[in-house]
Amino acid sequence: MVVAKRVLMFGPPGSGKGTQAAVLAERLGVPAISTGDMLRRAVRSGSDLGARVQATVESGLLVDDDTMADVVRARLAEEDAHEGFLLDGYPRTVGQAETLRQILELRGEGLDAVVLLDVPTNELVRRAVARQREDDREEVVRERLKIYAEKTSPLVAHYEQAGLVRRIDGTLSVEVVTAAIEDVLGVG
Ligand code: AP5
Repeated sequence: MVVAKRVLMFGPPGSGKGTQAAVLAERLGVPAISTGDMLRRAVRSGSDLGARVQATVESGLLVDDDTMADVVRARLAEEDAHEGFLLDGYPRTVGQAETLRQILELRGEGLDAVVLLDVPTNELVRRAVARQREDDREEVVRERLKIYAEKTSPLVAHYEQAGLVRRIDGTLSVEVVTAAIEDVLGVG
């Protein structure tokens, strides 16, 4: 089995995308790229991008598609992403999925897999509130879940039609979830 290296980590806020991407990046030898982490770093650094997106990120709303296209296009052009990537938090809208398709098409590439982490809502809220990030207040977490349901979850059907979705039970321990993902990606 060929190892999947151009991978989307998909699932609602708190489903474990970032946790799993960090572990898998080392095993696959490709970078874990979290758009949420990139935006939070920009806010902390006080850059122009950070100043523009701060209020949006802290209220749990989505940053606009054009800004995100610039962020992702620049990051995927970096050398460490030439052989593959684990993209966590992008795309989140139909427009972003189209932008990603165009970016990859220009490179003569496509996605290998979309890993979908399944976790029920009550567990998502419990995990996020326990973590206490700036945007992890319960009302903000619920807003992020609502936006996921409205704007992001429709992408699952889109990628299912393309035969890319690998559904994983995200309620199990971190180690068991990692092993399940490695299995579907052909690692090991
Ligand atoms: P982002 O950082 O992407 O937030 P998110 O999607 O809400 O995801 P989280 O980081 O909350 O969850 P995760 O699935 O990565 O889970 P994690 O591994 O951390 O985005 C933040 C904001 O940035 C957005 O709201 C938006 O404003 C903006 N943004 C980002 N990308 C954008 C885009 N493309 N377009 C527009 N705006 C964008 O795990 C969660 C917790 O659970 C942790 O404490 C972890 O330790 C724990 N945990 C993980 N796995 C397990 C397990 N198996 N069992 C028990 N606990 C576990």
